[in-house]
Amino acid sequence: MANIGIIIGSTRPGRVGPQVAAWVHELAAKRSSANYEVIDIQEFELPLYAEAVPAAMSQGYELAQVRQWSERINALDGFVFVTPEYNRSIPGSLKNAIDYLAGEFANKAAGIVSYGSSGGVTAAEHLRISLSTLQVATVQSAPAFNLFTDFENFSTFTPSAVHEPAVSRLLDQVEGWTHGLSHVRALSALAA
Ligand SMILES: Cc1cc2nc3c(=O)[nH]c(=O)nc-3n(C[C@H](O)[C@H](O)[C@H](O)COP(=O)(O)O)c2cc1C
Repeated sequence: MANIGIIIGSTRPGRVGPQVAAWVHELAAKRSSANYEVIDIQEFELPLYAEAVPAAMSQGYELAQVRQWSERINALDGFVFVTPEYNRSIPGSLKNAIDYLAGEFANKAAGIVSYGSSGGVTAAEHLRISLSTLQVATVQSAPAFNLFTDFENFSTFTPSAVHEPAVSRLLDQVEGWTHGLSHVRALSALAA
């Protein structure tokens, strides 16, 4: 069965990202078609990216934190990114974590769940572009939670029920493409 990681993009103290990821995970865990786990970027304590050689050309990672991050992503078959919008894009923490890796993400599927004062849709589209560079296939459904209507006091996640079908559709789409892309990865491994 496919293993899909729900990745929390924000790392600041007081962040709401874990609440959103936990809610998505609760819905995902009801399904028997894939295994889901929450991955918190904060736990890896990644320093600000300063690699001399980009991951795509590197022979390995020097920092233990980066090796752990790499192994965690490598072990997953697909992803659901949970990202806030910071200054009309994704938070630096998420971009930083993504920039460390390359092949670990390739030929895998991802869904994007965003939140922000206008749903975080610009951040979601920025993330889609970055992921396409890493050869990640992002699915169509893109649930976007609004800080004014899906949170109490901008801090307690109280999602409107209207989002559930979009999240279910996203999970269906990620699982479908994850299955399809497993064949692409198998072919790539044969050709290597
Ligand atoms: C530095 C910063 C910039 C932000 N810029 C935007 C923005 O451009 N658009 C938006 O919708 N919300 C913006 N927000 C609001 C965040 O989306 C909101 O605070 C959200 O809770 C942040 O996610 P987090 O709590 O998981 O860190 C910004 C918040 C911060 C801290």
